[in-house]
Amino acid sequence: MGSRSLGPRLTAISQHINICIDNIVNQPRDLHLWDCCCDHGFLGRSFLSQPSLHTVHFVDRISSIMQQLDTKLAADCLPDQQARAQTHIGCAADITLDTQAQHIVVLAGIGGNTLIELLDGIYQRHNASEQQIIFALCPNYHCYDVRRYLQQQYFELISEAYIQDRNKSHEIMLVGSAY
Ligand SMILES: C[S@@+](CC[C@H](N)C(=O)[O-])C[C@H]1O[C@@H](n2cnc3c(N)ncnc32)[C@H](O)[C@@H]1O
Repeated sequence: MGSRSLGPRLTAISQHINICIDNIVNQPRDLHLWDCCCDHGFLGRSFLSQPSLHTVHFVDRISSIMQQLDTKLAADCLPDQQARAQTHIGCAADITLDTQAQHIVVLAGIGGNTLIELLDGIYQRHNASEQQIIFALCPNYHCYDVRRYLQQQYFELISEAYIQDRNKSHEIMLVGSAY
């Protein structure tokens, strides 16, 4: 799936993640990407050919969405891409991150307050300040609340962007807590 089919918002998120991946590929740990609240899974699917990634995880709490995605992955993806994809039905706050690996967790296309709840759930359960987790965030709204939460929890800003997509503005933030 090329960046043209992603649209400006998902393309910008993907570009920031790719720069981030370029900066961490020489680390010895396996790198996992989590497309949380994935819905159509367009973002995660665009990373299935990225050789630096060990696994691309797709997470959504709606089982019918994940069944459709499983069907699309089986129909559209090459065997090596399918082998790299894992789908999960459930709340994104409950994902389990392998402590021996490195993770990029995407939370995009959801409201800011939901995003904070999910991010906080993942962060608190994984003692993320001692583990290498990078979060790629793009809330639909309540960006001020998201930024305030990030400051309170001492997240470090890796990169950010402000983009327009179909007359809506979006803030993209890549943050980490262990450097
Ligand atoms: C608008 S779509 C966003 C799709 C994609 N991330 C994007 O940015 O285009 C929102 C999706 O989030 C899912 N969702 C909402 N809350 C969730 C939660 N707590 N855990 C997992 N998925 C959730 C919904 O089921 C829906 O499919």
